[in-house]
Formats: sequence, C-alpha cells, structure tokens
Amino acid sequence: FHVDIDSSDTDKGTYPYYMLKEIDEQPNVMRKLSSEYLNEDGTPVVQDELLDAMKQSDRLYIIAAGTSYHAGLVGKELFEKLSEVPTEVHVSSEFAYNMPLLSKNPFFIFLSQSGETADSREVLVNLNRLNYKSLTITNVANSTLSRESNYTLLLHAGPEISVASTKAYTAQITVEAILAKALGESEGIAKAKDFNLKQQLGFVATGMQSIVDEKETINEISKKYFADANRAFYIGRGIDYFVSLESSLKLKEISYILAEGFASGELKHGTIALIEEDTPVVGIITQSNTAGLTRSNLEETMARGAKAITIATESLSKENDDIVVPDVDELLTPLLSVIPAQLLAYYTSLNKGLDVDHPRNLAKSVTVQ
Ligand code: G6P
Repeated sequence: FHVDIDSSDTDKGTYPYYMLKEIDEQPNVMRKLSSEYLNEDGTPVVQDELLDAMKQSDRLYIIAAGTSYHAGLVGKELFEKLSEVPTEVHVSSEFAYNMPLLSKNPFFIFLSQSGETADSREVLVNLNRLNYKSLTITNVANSTLSRESNYTLLLHAGPEISVASTKAYTAQITVEAILAKALGESEGIAKAKDFNLKQQLGFVATGMQSIVDEKETINEISKKYFADANRAFYIGRGIDYFVSLESSLKLKEISYILAEGFASGELKHGTIALIEEDTPVVGIITQSNTAGLTRSNLEETMARGAKAITIATESLSKENDDIVVPDVDELLTPLLSVIPAQLLAYYTSLNKGLDVDHPRNLAKSVTVQ
C-alpha cells in the first residue's frame, strides 16, 4: 500500500486553516478506505498472515495516545461485537510502566497517526523484547512504529497537518471496523458476515458530506453558546461516551475552554456541581438502548442552568434537537457524530481569533516521553 501525495495534499488551497480542509476531506477518506480494503462484493482485503496471528490470540490490546486512544475505545466495541474477541484499550504512557496482567495469548494493536509517538514506541520496544506479535495502524508508511511491529495497516488519510487530529480519527475507526469484520468473518461469526460495511461506508461518506455542507449552522451554535463559555461538558453512554471524550479533547486543544467528556450517568456523581448558568453541555445521542437515559441526564443539567445542545441521529431525534446527523449502523455512528464536534471546536477557536492549526503548548507528533 502507499499514499499518493500530490501538492494539493499539503497545500491549504482556499482554506483558512488545515483543520477545516482536513474535516472536509473525511468523506473522501471514507471512499478511499472502502476501495483500498473492501472488494466490490464487500469482502475485506486483509492479509491472511495478519488474520491468522490475530485468530491465535485470546485477547486484543489496543495501545495509543491522545485522539488515537479515543479511536481505540471505539475499536474495542467493534472488535467485541464483530469479532467476538475480548479487547482492552490502554493509554501507552500508562501501559509502558504499569503493564496489566496479560492474557495467555495477547495480540497488540498500536494506533498512531504519526507512527512516531514515543510513549507508544516505549511499549512496543518492551513487547518486542517479550516476543509478542503486533500490528500498527498508522497514517505514515515506514514510520518507526510501522517498522518495528510485525504488521501494518495504513490509514490512507493523506497528510494530516493541523495539530488537532480529525481525519486520522475517523480513518482509524474505519480501519478498525474493516479489520474487525475481516477477523469476525474468518471466524465464521454471523454478525460480521451480515455487516454490510461497504454499503455503510457509502452512507457514512454521504452523511459526512451533508454535515460539512451545513457547517454554518454549527458556527452559529458556537457563537451562541461557546463564545463566552469558560467550561463545557460532553456526555453520552457507550460509544457516545467515547465520542464525548474525543469531542471535549478537540474543544480544549484549540479553544482553551476547560472541557470534559463524561459517561452521562456519571455526571451527577460529582461533576454536576460545576454546572453554572449557561454552561454548555453537549449530549451525544446515537444509541437506541441509552438515548432516553442521556436525555434525562441532560434535563438534570438544564435544571441547574446548563445550556443543553444535542447531537442526535435522525431516528432518535426529537423536535428541538440542535444537530441531527443521518442514520447509519449503530456501531459506526462515531464517524458522523464526531464531525459536528470537530466543527464546533474549529469555529470556537476561529471566532476567538486563535491559531487553529498551531495551538499553544502542543506538537503534532510527540517524540519524547
Ligand atoms: C499528539 C497530538 C495528538 C495526537 C497524539 C497521538 O499529542 O497533538 O493530536 O492524538 O499526539 O499521536 P499519534 O501520532 O500517535 O496518533
């Protein structure tokens, strides 16, 4: 595999910031991944040797940092639901020095946009010493993590230049979905066979396009609720909780607003004390089994003065929802629900006059521990 880099990939063109360009590129990244990794008939194209190594394992360990860690949390859902293999997700800087008790036959998956994160490399070096097998999912062919692990899958997202990661996150989730389907199919798991990923990725690409085409609505929401906010919260359950973590990271990275993501049910166990008049609380509602619960958790915050903002899928939406995203399979909703959150962070940073692509104190690739 290789990523074609032409001048348009590293040129901002008419975009004011790379981040907006990279947000807009996501529908194309979905189409690219679909054509790279799925045959016309929808069967995944993943090397047998990698699937064989994974099949021998009784537990997957996903290791990553930052946004990639958040993509790993969604990956856990995908591997457990589509491949029926228990999966753990770990922050690399923790795993390196506090390794949990491993299963008998672990298999490791490193998620890293750059393939150069020192925290993750420290883990890989330790695991290689112990002769464990690993896969790196990265955007950069021949990166350090790619070279030092047994297998590589590329993200095919094209260069990501803005420090705040956007298209690499959605590409990571997509490659995890492809791999989870491939592994599940090779194990004869019905749910994996029946999962029409090719068709779903088509819906995702179209859905992403419809959200980025309506970006001005999100700018309005940003101006209305976030311009004067000094704190903000994102809540959701299950997969929506994982997207809440990523959404809050996006906002804090580039707008410097203190933002946190919470499991909806957990907010009332302490953090609700921080809700003041007009504090924005974004509820992510894409899972049918928990939609009602998250809505009542949002009401609890509104009763304390919060401004609730909802991101909901169409079939779970209510009349007054702020942002409604198209329906896709419930395992893939992060690919759509994160887009408004990325745009919300982008506009909040932009409207504050900040340097969106180069937030203070942050680096694109962190090569020190
Ligand atoms: C840095 C970047 C983050 C990124 C993290 C992990 O902190 O600022 O955006 O998520 O590193 O990077 P990686 O390249 O390993 O995905």
